Amino acid sequence: MFVAVMGYGTVGSGVAAVLKQNGEAISSKFGCENIQLKKILDIRKFPGDEFEDIITDDFNEILNDPDIKIVAETMGGLHPAYDFVLALLNAGKSVVTSNKELVAVKGRELLEAAKKNGVNFLFEASVGGGIPVLRPIYQCLCANELSEVAGILNGTTNYILTQMITQGASFEAALSQAQELGYAERDPSADVDGIDALRKICILSDLCFGKNTPPDSAVASGIRNITLADVEAAKALGGVIKLIGSAKRLPDGKTAVTVSPAFIRSGSILSVTDDVQNCVTVRGNAVGEVSFSGPGAGKLPTASAVAADMADCAKHFGINRSPSWDEGSGDNIVSGDDYVSCWLVRAKGSKDEIRKQFPGVGFINAPGLPSNELFFVTEEMPCGSVKSKLESAGAQTGSIIRITDY
Ligand code: HSE
Repeated sequence: MFVAVMGYGTVGSGVAAVLKQNGEAISSKFGCENIQLKKILDIRKFPGDEFEDIITDDFNEILNDPDIKIVAETMGGLHPAYDFVLALLNAGKSVVTSNKELVAVKGRELLEAAKKNGVNFLFEASVGGGIPVLRPIYQCLCANELSEVAGILNGTTNYILTQMITQGASFEAALSQAQELGYAERDPSADVDGIDALRKICILSDLCFGKNTPPDSAVASGIRNITLADVEAAKALGGVIKLIGSAKRLPDGKTAVTVSPAFIRSGSILSVTDDVQNCVTVRGNAVGEVSFSGPGAGKLPTASAVAADMADCAKHFGINRSPSWDEGSGDNIVSGDDYVSCWLVRAKGSKDEIRKQFPGVGFINAPGLPSNELFFVTEEMPCGSVKSKLESAGAQTGSIIRITDY
């Protein structure tokens, strides 16, 4: 069966390499037709590249080729990825993708298009890179009522926080290291501001709770204002700070969705997920708690997931293997200032004024904490209440870190 890859960047070139190296083994082991790469779409030229002869800059050569049955989209971004994928599905081709923005924003619509055309739209690589996590959720855990999914979903920020926790590096120094190592982009906003992790938790929420979770209905706060003092305060409380994406079903049927720096108790699997590794924990009423961890990014790990989705499409051509979820709007999502939790707060101000706003609060005393800042843990309350109480106390807010029970 002939296939194509759109986007010959890090992931796309990894897919081409994996298909070349493992293609025959994939088909004999998995029992699908032999997968042969016929075209690669990219607007750039790659003189001397081993796949140079099959690289084209004309999308129509893939769209209009009746031999090409499966296409991997690894271009990233919404446009033209969305337009190309929709056209391919409507032309009766199965599509797989590693593009989390595409799946988070347009996933439901593309799944409908796949269903209508009797083909598949699969996206295992869009969350957790090489970690098998989406298929286990919608297949292996389908016998559960799932209550919560949470995880470390971004390798770049996890690398930065690990450097801060284990090496005492400042945020700025750790970010520079991440850029030197090629983990962080020159403009690292999507990673450090939590936007990448938000797209991934929205996809996980779609799958776990069966309702569309539009990324623009939830709020992400990243790690830019996390300091070494926050790291020390978390240590004094017996844990570490990680950037956590979380989606939780609430008793009223709504879903609480957030991406934020969070306190994780020492000893939990998320607390020991370091560097660029990712880890996703899922809670269900039959299985209890399960976690999936491994390389959340990178050329070959991500290609591993993309190529496996292609094999699934090849084995089940004409049989719908794709998950689905219902329409949902922002009205169903609780996020941002409405998100309820206990919070670890760093602020500058008067202890007495803070005590008036947070009655009974105890301040954290530990070596290494700066004397001009106050650290305390609130009772359970919406994040917006913490902010307004700090304002009423005349305090200057440093950070507000969610306390988790993972
Ligand atoms: N920039 C992402 C990360 C790549 O650091 O995890 C994988 O989505």
